[in-house]
Amino acid sequence: HCAYRWSPSLVGTFVHATYHTAVEILEDGLLGVDTEGKIAFIGSGKEVDRLYYPKAHFVVIDVCSEFFMPGMVDTHIHASQYSYAGTALDMPLLQWLNMYTFPVEACYKDLEFARNVYTHIVKRTLRNGTTTACYFATIHTDASLLLGQIANDFGQRALVGKVCMDTNNFFPHYKETLDESEGETNRFIGELLKKKYPLVRPVVTPRFAPSCSATLLGHLGEIAQNNDLHIQSHISETKEEVNLVKELFPDYDSYTDVYHRHNLLTDKTVMAHGCHLTDGELKLFRETGASIAHCPNSNISLCSGMLDVRRVLNHKVKLGLGTDVAGGYSPSMLDAVRRTLDTSKALTIQDTQYHTLTFEEVFRLATLGGSQALSLDENTGNFEVGKDFDALRVNTDAAGGPIDLINHGEGPKVYVAGKRVVPFVERP
Ligand code: GUN
Ligand code: FE
Repeated sequence: HCAYRWSPSLVGTFVHATYHTAVEILEDGLLGVDTEGKIAFIGSGKEVDRLYYPKAHFVVIDVCSEFFMPGMVDTHIHASQYSYAGTALDMPLLQWLNMYTFPVEACYKDLEFARNVYTHIVKRTLRNGTTTACYFATIHTDASLLLGQIANDFGQRALVGKVCMDTNNFFPHYKETLDESEGETNRFIGELLKKKYPLVRPVVTPRFAPSCSATLLGHLGEIAQNNDLHIQSHISETKEEVNLVKELFPDYDSYTDVYHRHNLLTDKTVMAHGCHLTDGELKLFRETGASIAHCPNSNISLCSGMLDVRRVLNHKVKLGLGTDVAGGYSPSMLDAVRRTLDTSKALTIQDTQYHTLTFEEVFRLATLGGSQALSLDENTGNFEVGKDFDALRVNTDAAGGPIDLINHGEGPKVYVAGKRVVPFVERP
């Protein structure tokens, strides 16, 4: 039958979030992927016989211990900081940047240094189940282009940002002039788009307001607008930083207003942290469609604050999870899920009336929520027909794995043509 053009077809358990259900579990499901890698069909395993044709090739997974889930979306990670992840978490943000971060990022002038770290972080995040990552690189255009190439070569979906900063009073070796920052951003965008990598896009990346002049912020807002590009930055991570922005930008209503008045808040903007945003600022996020990358490991590790995710969601602001390596010490989205729950429970310890996040909600934030936060949910985030099949096959019973399955439940339920089949059998 000519309609059966997808291959391979997967049979087993599918776990994903939808727009109305935080976790939907399709037991005995069947999912077809077309030749372009898009989901062509999702239905019941009982329909396998209807799809059968000689060339079809079915992957049947063990429904007792295995499932498919969408690949996770890391909405905020500094690829360049991976070289010191797990160290240097003994200072608050602004001192930490000056003492550790800027000296390390300055090393990315050296392309071989960059190639080594960038190869490791792309491979590591993929191994950890991150199929989409929104990366900060450094101020160096060629090294940032290399990160795009490496993500493309390993097949990761990525937004890659060449960092922009024309202000740095504490570590003056690590900054650009206004003209360099603007010119190199244009070169970075032009060269990355010219490569026509199918899954890699540039993202306009002012580091954060304290390291950018108002003129630079304005130019970057224009560049993003003229090229319809994504934007990423940091906002309201610590109280000290919020006060600094007040001093540096006295004529603005708020930290959020600084970005907003330079056209940097759009529905393709993701801002990391937002721990200390006011209700008025969250309203501006909602109105512009800008989103927040919640990075709980980083927020605790640098003693920055505890984002009240429930409040953000109540404001109907889009929110995804980020690892924020190396402010966060773990390049794992599973860690980000756990830390998100920890922070929500810490808020519950402080206020027993607090509406704690459920693990189902946090699963959604790590997948569909992240794809929405990056405005990539037309392509990824869950198992809907027409989206790309970005997925993890999870085996909870893998030899040497970290889980002991004590109760296997009632046994596998995979049906082919109405008959229960033994798992692990490749068909036909
Ligand atoms: N704010 C500005 N730059 C950075 C950074 O590199 N990491 C974190 N966590 N916050 C920032
Ligand atoms: Fe960050």
